[in-house]
Amino acid sequence: MKIIRDIHEMQAASRAATVQKLSLGFVPTMGALHEGHFSLVRLARTRASMVVVSIFVNPLQFGPTEDFNHYPRTLEADCTRLEGEGVDIVFAPCAAQMYPPGATTMVHVEGLSEKLDGRSRPGHFLGVSTVVAKLFHIVQPDFAVFGQKDAAQVAVLRRMVRDLNMPVELIVAPIVREADGLALSSRNAYLTAEQRKQALVLHRALTQVESLAASGETNAAKLRSLGLSVLASEPAAQLDYFEIIDAGALEPIEDTAQGALVAVAATFGVTRLIDNFLLAPR
Ligand code: PAJ
Repeated sequence: MKIIRDIHEMQAASRAATVQKLSLGFVPTMGALHEGHFSLVRLARTRASMVVVSIFVNPLQFGPTEDFNHYPRTLEADCTRLEGEGVDIVFAPCAAQMYPPGATTMVHVEGLSEKLDGRSRPGHFLGVSTVVAKLFHIVQPDFAVFGQKDAAQVAVLRRMVRDLNMPVELIVAPIVREADGLALSSRNAYLTAEQRKQALVLHRALTQVESLAASGETNAAKLRSLGLSVLASEPAAQLDYFEIIDAGALEPIEDTAQGALVAVAATFGVTRLIDNFLLAPR
């Protein structure tokens, strides 16, 4: 496995793969890798002859009061695990090369970027779409794998790829969870044992709404009110949103019969967690 830190070297490696007609699968990450990330890597491995994983804690997607400085950085351990997963290249650029002085070009997916997490994290998706556009230009993959865990991110990036005619297929992989239902996240490392227990309310709210929907209920207001009441049962959860929306437009819907995204975000202590599930059309 090769570790590449230089943008031009990565572009050259990608061009060489194209010349050899290798299909290139790409998994962008911010490191501190867990089984959720590895599931994306394994999915990419089954479909591509060459797999590139990027590890870059992107300063542009963190707000001024967010955890950029404290975000877990475990590059060495990440690379060891990725080598075991059969990854061909880890691309780990430095911020100074990704954003040289005077870099002012941004990719803004207007409208979508201001919804869900974008509402409470202004500028977050501007940072995400800009860095992913840059990474796509550098790595030039045939396809890229993202996790359903970040449902709004998926909607923003799908729109970006469509609107800018990027020649990259987006593949979305299911959420990987702990045995008790907590969605894996690099930020779970911040939780105390007590908060870890409290955070299970997110999964509890989602599964109860899922059961009510499975019993035939399609009224979004009723489903939402059940989710909110479960969340209210855990006073330690500071709710950001619990929404039942269209998975593509991220707009609230009244009826879930055509399918829906049920998404939640809440803070436990200083740690903001998100989770969601997709309701299939009836
Ligand atoms: P990061 O949070 O490291 O996540 C990298 C990828 O792993 C994302 O596509 C995310 O949805 C996926 N992922 C995280 N937890 C998961 C889980 N429990 N199950 C399945 N997939 C999971 O998302 C980012 O980084 C950044 O915004 C990035 C796209 C790299 C741009 O900087």
